[in-house]
Amino acid sequence: MPRIRPIDDPDALAEAVRILRAGGLVAFPTETVYGLGALATDDRAVARIFEAKGRPRFNPLIAHLPGREEAEAVAEITPDGARLIDAFWPGALTLVLPRRADSALSLLACAGLPTAALRAPAHPAAQRLLRAVGAPVAAPSANASGKLSPVTAAHVRDSLGEAVDLILDGGACQIGLESAIVDVSGETPTLLRPGGVTAEEIEEVLGRPLARLDGPVGDAPSAPGMLESHYAPGLPIRLEARDVAPGEAFLAFGAVHPEGAAASLSQTGDLREAAASLFSLLHALDDPSRFRRIAVAPIPETGLGRAINDRLRRAAAPRG
Ligand code: TXA
Ligand code: MG
Repeated sequence: MPRIRPIDDPDALAEAVRILRAGGLVAFPTETVYGLGALATDDRAVARIFEAKGRPRFNPLIAHLPGREEAEAVAEITPDGARLIDAFWPGALTLVLPRRADSALSLLACAGLPTAALRAPAHPAAQRLLRAVGAPVAAPSANASGKLSPVTAAHVRDSLGEAVDLILDGGACQIGLESAIVDVSGETPTLLRPGGVTAEEIEEVLGRPLARLDGPVGDAPSAPGMLESHYAPGLPIRLEARDVAPGEAFLAFGAVHPEGAAASLSQTGDLREAAASLFSLLHALDDPSRFRRIAVAPIPETGLGRAINDRLRRAAAPRG
C-alpha cells in the first residue's frame, strides 16, 4: 500500500517536494478534491499521471501554482483572466489562458494545445507544497479513470494504490467538488465546467454572461467537443506504418525504425517515453515545408499505448 503522511508534518512535505522534483507522483489535498500531482514541466512525470489513472485519453491537465505571479511565467494573463484572478484566486476556479511561447509547461500536460489550464488552490497546505516545489504541478483528481473524485486520503489509496509514490493527508476536502473551469483565452469567456465557484459569481465579476458549452447563452461558441479540445497536426497522418513513403516524416517506435525515419517515439519501445515525446515530436514534424505527411509506426494497444493510439487516431481521422 502507498504511504500516507500528514501534510502538516514538515518532514512529509519535504519528502513530497523531493519526490515531485525527481519526477514522481504525490497525491495532495486541495479545497476541491485530492489531486494526483506531478511536475508540470516534466513530460515523463506527466506521462506517469496518465499511466497511474489508466486514462484511455490524453486530455489536458490543470497546472497548479501559488498565484498570479507564477501564472504569468507560463501563460498570458488576458484582461478577463486578470479580473477573475483578482476576484477568485486562490480558490476553486481554473482559468484556461494562452500558453506563453516560452512556457515551461509540458506539452503533454497541455495535450499539445496553445492554451494552459491554471489554478491556484486556496488550501493552505497545498499552497505550502506548491511554494516549496517552486514549479507548477499538474494534477487531475486523484482517482482511477472513470471513478469518483477522492475527497479523503483513504479514497486516494483505495483508488490508486501502488501507482502513487506518496499520499499527503490533509483530512476531508472542504468543497468536495471540482473547480469551475472558464476559458478566458479568447474573445468570449466560456464556462467549460461548472464547479466550486458558481457561474453567477463569475458573471458578476466579468460584467457579462458566460458562454456555456451546453446551452446558448450570449454568443456561445457551439463547437462540439470544445470541452475535449484536441490538438491535431496540420499534415495528414498515416498509422500502422512500417516503411517510409516519399515526402513522409516517419515516427518510429521500438524495432519499427526503417531507414530514413525522421524521429523515434522511443527506441527501446518504452510507452512512457513515447507518451512523453508524442506532442513535441508531432509539433516538430508538422512542417509542410519539409513533409507532406506524417507516418507513425504501430503502437501496442496496452497501458499508455491506448491513450497514444486514441490521440493518433483522432489526428488521422478525416477532417470536416
Ligand atoms: O478541482 C479541480 O480542478 C481538481 C483539483 C485536483 O485541482 N483537478 C481537476 O483536474 O479536476 P482534471 O484534470 O480532472 O480536470 C481538468 C479539466 C479537464 O476536463 C480538461 O479537459 C480541462 O480541465 N482542461 C485542461 N486544460 C484545458 C485547456 N487547455 N483547454 C480546455 N480544457 C482544458
Ligand atoms: Mg477528474
